[in-house]
Amino acid sequence: MPTTTWNRHHILTLADFTTAEYNAVLQTAASFQEVLSRRTKKVPTLQGQVVANLFFEPSTRTRSSFEIAAKRLSADTLNFAAATSSMTKGETILDTAKTYLAMGTDIMVIRHKDAGVPQAIAQEMDRLGVKVSVLNAGDGQHEHPSQGLLDLFTICSLIDPAQPRIELLQGKKIAIVGDILHSRVARSNIWSLIASGAEVHLAAPPTLLPKFFAEYLGVTDPKNLKSQRLFTHWQLEPALENADFVMTLRLQKERMTAHLLPSLREYHQLFGITRAKLKLCSPKVKVLHPGPVNRGVEISSDLMDDPEFSLIQSQVTSGVAVRMALLYFIGSGRVN
Ligand code: NCD
Repeated sequence: MPTTTWNRHHILTLADFTTAEYNAVLQTAASFQEVLSRRTKKVPTLQGQVVANLFFEPSTRTRSSFEIAAKRLSADTLNFAAATSSMTKGETILDTAKTYLAMGTDIMVIRHKDAGVPQAIAQEMDRLGVKVSVLNAGDGQHEHPSQGLLDLFTICSLIDPAQPRIELLQGKKIAIVGDILHSRVARSNIWSLIASGAEVHLAAPPTLLPKFFAEYLGVTDPKNLKSQRLFTHWQLEPALENADFVMTLRLQKERMTAHLLPSLREYHQLFGITRAKLKLCSPKVKVLHPGPVNRGVEISSDLMDDPEFSLIQSQVTSGVAVRMALLYFIGSGRVN
């Protein structure tokens, strides 16, 4: 077991995550994965602490995954859904957060359609001098750190289930395909994958992958080693050639403000991942998708269900162990 002390109070972005932090999460998630395989899948780690899931935007897997993760750690959980809350009566986000604070919440897990909301709540908590930790569960197009970490865990534990660690991805080729422009999952994955030493290839039509995307992320500085590991393509084939892993992304129609694609059928023909297109990849290639999936658009329905290639169910399972690790770190402030 690692003995590193965890210093991060809020988890808002992966942009500044260190190798030690990635590895602490991966190793601790592996030990929680073992707990989850036992008959009694619960540990007393966060007994007496309150975890509030403040989801201002719809979610199936992330919200349920955080809830079950908190429960497996014996925390008390509060679930908030904007549509049935006092926000419909005009209450502000910060006032909602302060209401949960007044009820003794220790950790706030926050999802919002606008980038920066978890950061704003974290700043307010710090300003108030309270010890509440904030975990970003997806903010607009900005970031989705727990998804990035669970994707990393899924891949690393496939390579070495006993000792998943970020170094295992050094030199691997990973393609991220689809609506990169609107994807917070892509942004978080880009940070963790380039930190791992993998080669990251982004592929999308130009309307979903602006030419200056890497520059805009801040990874194009020629002195920055990271910029040499990020490639962008407006065609699928160069990204897929010899790829070890392919991450597909949903078309985020709710975030599109203009007609960015001629048709879904054409998009599928050009960028949809199918068994036939995977022939370009490494023979052992695996496919990931954060869900929810538009079957037959970004990925063919049969490929999604094919256990030889698809890691989609394993991502969902990994999500619980990874979120237990994150709640554990910010809830108890130290690695076990
Ligand atoms: C993603 C999200 O909400 O950012 N889903 C998820 O959390 N599993 C991706 C998406 O909505 O397409």
